[in-house]
Amino acid sequence: MLVLGIESSCDETAAAVVDGSRPAGERILSNIVFSQWESVRKYGGVVPEVAARAHVEKIDQVVDRALDEAGVPIDALDGIAATAGPGLIGGVIVGVSYAKALAMGADKPFMALNHLEGHALTPRLVASIEFPFLLLLVSGGHCQTLLVEGVGKYRRLGTTIDDAIGEAFDKTAKLMELGQPGGPAVEALAAQGDPRAVPLPVPFKGRPGLDFSFSGLKTAVRRAVQGDAGYSPEDIAASFQRVAFESLIDRTRRAAEAVALAVDTPLQALVVAGGVAANRALSRQLTSLGEELGLPVVVPPAALCTDNGAMMAWAGVERLRAGNAEDQLAFAPRPRWPLDPDAPKSTGAGAAKA
Ligand code: KG4
Ligand code: ZN
Repeated sequence: MLVLGIESSCDETAAAVVDGSRPAGERILSNIVFSQWESVRKYGGVVPEVAARAHVEKIDQVVDRALDEAGVPIDALDGIAATAGPGLIGGVIVGVSYAKALAMGADKPFMALNHLEGHALTPRLVASIEFPFLLLLVSGGHCQTLLVEGVGKYRRLGTTIDDAIGEAFDKTAKLMELGQPGGPAVEALAAQGDPRAVPLPVPFKGRPGLDFSFSGLKTAVRRAVQGDAGYSPEDIAASFQRVAFESLIDRTRRAAEAVALAVDTPLQALVVAGGVAANRALSRQLTSLGEELGLPVVVPPAALCTDNGAMMAWAGVERLRAGNAEDQLAFAPRPRWPLDPDAPKSTGAGAAKA
């Protein structure tokens, strides 16, 4: 079961070959990621047109290298999967068009997949976990809890009503002039500071419902950075990270409790995905939460938490296995594409019962 996966929905041009017939831990035959941070840094953030052009320039090489490194000729593939949304539409179009052309030329099935589905299924790429599991998806564009009941069966429990948590890390880094992407820089600085030095509010802690919010915290961080209190950057970073994660853990605990009341099959695991999952302080706190809830915790390796091709290839494997992968050559890329289209915009306490 060999699938080529292509990812181009933000600022990484990525491709990978995954062999679904191997045991967890040995499935990734290649995983090539070209990151545009160098080329976008001079603009101070992702400019969609610049990103799209960079994808066009790189995709050929990235896919060739993925196939070469895996030692897999196109003819040997069982399918080609690409992120078809949500994301910056210029980049998504590049990846989808390229994948469709390859698939047509080689007469292979093409799978148009949701980027969030790639993140959601990644824990099963690296560990044997059964459904259902609770997913905390934390990235630059998303901050959600999802109940994953099977391939293609996702129920959103809580979501952010304003900023995503990765965005909060990136904005904090920008305020403190730490460079982008902000997450790793804030994490490194936070390790040297006092997490209780700066009084910051814990967003939504103890509040009913399952949603998240980070815009108030962003404002409080701006005041701490620009005010006269003279806080050190290390203390601001540490305090920001502490309250941001306290909020995540509080909301995740509530989501697990809500699910336990609402589903027949007990949760099998607590898993985390998305770029912010690369943060070691977060994975430590999730591990403790898992112990408290009596659930195994799966945190994929950092390289599989941030955007990559292997997660899309693996989602393709899961789709093929589930017999849920009809050829999608006619699929049009989507800039917006919720994983759970039935979820209300902001879900609140009733979500798990819906
Ligand atoms: O999943 P991802 O690669 O891209 C999408 O947003 O889909 O996530 C990128 C986000 C950025 O906001 C980045 O700052 C954050 O993940 N991130 C981190 C860490 N590494 C990456 N946030 C906190 N701590 C980290 N170590
Ligand atoms: Zn992502």
